[in-house]
Amino acid sequence: MKNIKACLFDLDGVIVDTAKYHYIAWKELANELGFDFTLEDNEKLKGVSRMTSLDILLSIGGIELDEDKKLELATKKNDNYLQYILKMGPEEILPGTKEFLEVLRKEHIKIALGSASKNAMLILERLELTGYFDAIVDGTHVAKAKPDPEVFLQGAEKLGVAPTECVVFEDAEAGVEAALAGGMKCVGIGSSEVLGKAHLVVDGLHKMSIQKLGLLD
Ligand code: BG6
Ligand code: MG
Repeated sequence: MKNIKACLFDLDGVIVDTAKYHYIAWKELANELGFDFTLEDNEKLKGVSRMTSLDILLSIGGIELDEDKKLELATKKNDNYLQYILKMGPEEILPGTKEFLEVLRKEHIKIALGSASKNAMLILERLELTGYFDAIVDGTHVAKAKPDPEVFLQGAEKLGVAPTECVVFEDAEAGVEAALAGGMKCVGIGSSEVLGKAHLVVDGLHKMSIQKLGLLD
């Protein structure tokens, strides 16, 4: 590997499928507020911060609330979501993740997390993956959410590498845009219809290899 010195990973949807738990918790909140929240609606929340997710949900229900009430509802949703997160274990790590992280380690490629979630540390602990990461940047560290590149730029800085030496793994369109805006290479995890701007799109980390990473070098 000539230029690639680090890989930065989004968490939700790349390393673990938390979207199903977000969905249950948001749906419960919507139902309490008197409207339905579909799986299709849930797609709009991928990669989006907690408060922006709430704004999207409220706009679906046609509800306007003041900031205090919104904070109260976001906290309520998160408390509900945490019940599911706290039951998670390493068996929920998405296929190929550990194997790919091991390969990167062997190749001396640095590893960072770049997530919008404020629960990222807790989730990594539950999955027993914390030790793999040389740097962790999450929703508690950044002022600007994806598609702003802040989360990934902070990651590169913490690792001591240039953005051009980084490859980002992302499942959300906003995340791909963030990586590109930061001057990084990006591997989309999911469908090329949604993630077409990425340099490479694969179904999941189980489809990654050092050879494929080399194509971006
Ligand atoms: C992102 C998820 O990783 O984190 C979003 O894709 C979520 O769906 C966001 O809204 C914030 O998560 P949290 O855990 O801080 O509520
Ligand atoms: Mg994601």
